[in-house]
Amino acid sequence: MNAQPKPALSPAELDAFWMPFTANRQFKANPRLLARADGMRYWTVDGREVLDAVSGLWCVNAGHGRREITDAVTQQLNTMEFAPTFQMGHPIAFELANRLAAIAPPGMDRVFFTNSGSESVDTALKIAIAYHRARGAGQRTRFIGREKGYHGVGFGGMSVGGMVHNRKIFGSSMVPGVDHLPHTLDLGHNAFSRGLPHWGAHFANELERLIALHDASTIAAVIVEPISGSAGVILPPVGYLKRLREICDKHDILLIFDEVITGFGRTGKAFAAQSFDVTADLMTTAKGLTNGAVPMGAVFAQRKIYDALMQGPEGAIELFHGYTYSAHPVACAAALATLDIYTKEGLLTRAATLAPKWEEAVHSLRGTKHVIDVRNYGLIGAVELEPRAGKPGARAFDVFLECFERGVMVRQTGDVIAMSPPLIIEEKQITRIVETLTGVIRDTD
Ligand SMILES: Cc1ncc(COP(=O)(O)O)c(C=O)c1O
Repeated sequence: MNAQPKPALSPAELDAFWMPFTANRQFKANPRLLARADGMRYWTVDGREVLDAVSGLWCVNAGHGRREITDAVTQQLNTMEFAPTFQMGHPIAFELANRLAAIAPPGMDRVFFTNSGSESVDTALKIAIAYHRARGAGQRTRFIGREKGYHGVGFGGMSVGGMVHNRKIFGSSMVPGVDHLPHTLDLGHNAFSRGLPHWGAHFANELERLIALHDASTIAAVIVEPISGSAGVILPPVGYLKRLREICDKHDILLIFDEVITGFGRTGKAFAAQSFDVTADLMTTAKGLTNGAVPMGAVFAQRKIYDALMQGPEGAIELFHGYTYSAHPVACAAALATLDIYTKEGLLTRAATLAPKWEEAVHSLRGTKHVIDVRNYGLIGAVELEPRAGKPGARAFDVFLECFERGVMVRQTGDVIAMSPPLIIEEKQITRIVETLTGVIRDTD
């Protein structure tokens, strides 16, 4: 059984924890404390049930409290709690890499382990530079990211990302030589599109302009999220990603897909690359890899990239990169158990089965007061609200708070309410999420 609800914390007990990406003072004045979880639900410290419409933080794809993962982790801790992977190895790290290669997009059968999405992104950027250097193109060091992109909080990821709040404070410390594509969100043309918007593939042609500006010979890689989540769920226009792929191929530039949120079934296939039939050269993942149970990330690489780096003296380290906890045995055990669940329960494709019902449900919000756009793909949904005059984000934040009060956990980013429920969701729970959200938006000023 899960642990029983814990007593609420006193204000003084809330002081020491400097909370990440949180309005600390607001939270500590009115804390939202979760005590346990099972299936589609959390329970708060005071025993209230909350339906999880965001898979924790886009990671608990198989639902909460999965006994198989607990057992695998426990067994691994009892057998060997840690083993180094620098100049040493342990069997389940190799087993996991093989299992991941088997479900990866075509050719992406080399896997480098990290501990988070941010680390995966910085790892992929470093691999891209090292790859070009190994091929005698060491001057290819520039990166092209995208406005509104989110690639975590490392200096590399922040630099290629396009989130203003992430950039304004740390701008002077960014990695040099980065430029950005325009984002593809355009409510004027695409509001209330169902699935991918049909207008906007031409935004990819901006890459040609940036290449003409910097010269292809200086550019290592382009990095984009196939679907961005953190900027408020932005979907790629039909044909956009294929066009990016073509332009990268033409100029020998690597394409990196950041699949930290889209990986592991979110779009109806194992990876968004497969849903959109466009394969990248490097792919960053984390979150759903272990169902959120143990921190872990993985960078998938095309074999040509790995092979290009396997040179130099036999005894020399080929890539000067790695983390103490790369392929941590406990994380590997959690990931293997997670993959077993995904396979056994058909979860990597369940979003595709549920997508029509999901789409119907979230688009029922069209016409509700304040709602200026609804976006969906697979088991991802977003509802964009008209901002309050002079107070961007305030209305959606109130909606988020009230949804939680009414027993549904959604996520707010700017004036967007984002949803990404566990892939085990049932139709009646979809209805409950959307009915709650509709009621809350109606009751919000
Ligand atoms: C696309 C993308 N990349 C990277 C990250 C960063 O992952 P983490 O928070 O595990 O470092 C996120 C997190 O939401 C993400 O959405």
